[in-house]
Amino acid sequence: MSTTRWRVLLADRLHPRVREVLQAAPEKPLVLDEPGLAPDALAARLAEGVHGLIVRSRTRVTAALLDAAPHLRVVGRAGVGVDNIDLDAARARGVGVVNAPAATTDAVAEHTLALLFAVARRIAEADAGLKAGRWEKKRLMGVELAGRTLGLVGVGRIGAAVARRAAALGMRVVGYDPHLPPAALRERGATPVENLEALLAQADVVSVHVPLTPETRGLLGPAAFARMKKGVIVLGTARGGVIDEDALLAALESGRVRGAGLDVFAQEPPGPTPLVTHPRVVATPHIAAQTEEAQRRVAEDIAHEVLAALRGQPLRWRVV
Ligand code: MLT
Repeated sequence: MSTTRWRVLLADRLHPRVREVLQAAPEKPLVLDEPGLAPDALAARLAEGVHGLIVRSRTRVTAALLDAAPHLRVVGRAGVGVDNIDLDAARARGVGVVNAPAATTDAVAEHTLALLFAVARRIAEADAGLKAGRWEKKRLMGVELAGRTLGLVGVGRIGAAVARRAAALGMRVVGYDPHLPPAALRERGATPVENLEALLAQADVVSVHVPLTPETRGLLGPAAFARMKKGVIVLGTARGGVIDEDALLAALESGRVRGAGLDVFAQEPPGPTPLVTHPRVVATPHIAAQTEEAQRRVAEDIAHEVLAALRGQPLRWRVV
């Protein structure tokens, strides 16, 4: 029996439950809590002999980083999206990748709705105006959500959670998801449409819930915006890069898009870009999953999953 004591490196800032769960394991792994290391320093640390690496979205797990980690057996992504991990490189090196996809569903769905209300009722503009001493009752005309059509691009866990909430608001929900059969979309509360074009043609609100992959990068580009209804609201809480930001800005300026709620950006942080500072954009700094409850659940899920991987036990959320 091997006597090696596992070393697990926490490379991003994570909820303290990760450390607690890992340290409570009978194998007593050594937990190295070192968020924010620069890539070279992280590589050097991994080279010292790390068996498990846990990251959030800041750390990029590249092929070069994996090459620096000869003892690494598993990368845990504390969250859903794995676009910051080179999955092919991990596969080629026999390093497992696991994530925690179920823990943040409610938080992200609630934030999506928060952005939708904020855009539809111009909450951020109203708040900024009042704080600056303005009473802009007449100017701040909004739109109602009841009776409008929500178009979900992607009807996975989060899309389905948004669908349930939107139905409770009296919205009609349609969905497009090439990875699911029509019956699954119906079960998740969305009327299936044949393709993205059909969804864009009827949605008053378009909300994106797909990961960033080579197939989805720029999915909502100039052609997609040209198909949307005039006055549409666009929501992005999944991953930057799925919505083409130049195309969105052009559509805001032309008036085709009434407003947008964005939590994710092609480059993070984006800085005060024309899109972020646009008066009809409500922008938040990738906080959709940032609730006490969600982060605690993520921490517990990923710690258990990484321990299971190190033990060679069956995994709930194997990505690679
Ligand atoms: C995720 O992929 O789970 C989210 O983007 C949450 C995050 O890490 O901020």
